[in-house]
Amino acid sequence: MLRRWSAAVFGGVLFAAALTGCGGDDAGGADDGKITMGFSQVGAESGWRTANTKSIQEAAQAAGVDLKFSDAQQKQENQISAIRSFIAQKVDIIAFSPVVVSGWDPVLQEAKRAKIPVILTDRAVDSKDTSLYKTFIGSDFILEGKKAGEWLVKEYQGKSETVNIVELQGTTNSAPANERRSGFADVIKSDPKFKVIASQDGDFKRINGKEVMTAFLRAHPDIDVLFAHNDDMGLGAIEAIEAAGKKPGVDIKIITVDAIKDGMTALAANKINFIVECSPLLGPQLMDLAKKVLNGETIPTRVVTEETTFTPEQAKAVLPERKY
Ligand code: AHR
Repeated sequence: MLRRWSAAVFGGVLFAAALTGCGGDDAGGADDGKITMGFSQVGAESGWRTANTKSIQEAAQAAGVDLKFSDAQQKQENQISAIRSFIAQKVDIIAFSPVVVSGWDPVLQEAKRAKIPVILTDRAVDSKDTSLYKTFIGSDFILEGKKAGEWLVKEYQGKSETVNIVELQGTTNSAPANERRSGFADVIKSDPKFKVIASQDGDFKRINGKEVMTAFLRAHPDIDVLFAHNDDMGLGAIEAIEAAGKKPGVDIKIITVDAIKDGMTALAANKINFIVECSPLLGPQLMDLAKKVLNGETIPTRVVTEETTFTPEQAKAVLPERKY
């Protein structure tokens, strides 16, 4: 528990003031001068998530933050229990990546009553009361969906035949699934030749991507394009496409989101045609924002991650240095 902020914490930035942390004087925990952060992670459903966990754990260690990490195994009830446990332990600050967008108000109100600030990482919540959290750091998922749609529109420019699209959605009611879907739909609706003939939840997992794509292929022999909300589901779908005797990237064009190493390898091998980047490296920014919140500094209410897109040629160029 943070009682007094030592100069050593956070890379030599010196805080003269003695702080009691946002938990106030009645906040508990060891008086060791360290910030204690409770972090509730969604799970370990994808390569992206594993890289995100690593980024947060490494950044906490580098910043001298005592991280209490909890893996919710993609269950909202586990995240709510973890947050309640962080409150009971009187951590200085709570951060979490909400598995779904709704149903957070009661537990966030509990954190607020306990005077423990909350930072949302990666995914948003739909709470109307924005005073329940200090900031939201992560990607613009609508923009990611739009970038996927824009590539598709360009790819089929000048062609008039119907383009049959199937979509592998991320976890139902999660921010990335809702927003990537709507961003993509928004762009392709400009041309009636684009038809989404099937769209189903693959829970951001490789195994589910394979299963759902196998079912899509059985039901629809005429699929032209797959839009998968993440690389892992796209990689599972590639296995299904190959098992069906088709050539991924050629018989069925594939667009995914994330740009993890496995996805980039498939892109460089022309099995995926286009990847929209979603960066999992949120750890350093999260620690920096936590520091500022606890220091009483004003911070932006939204911090958007900078991201790019990749073609096969671009993937080949960056793959040797790709860290995750
Ligand atoms: O919230 C980010 C998404 O969650 C990533 O795109 C996906 O791979 C992960 O599981």
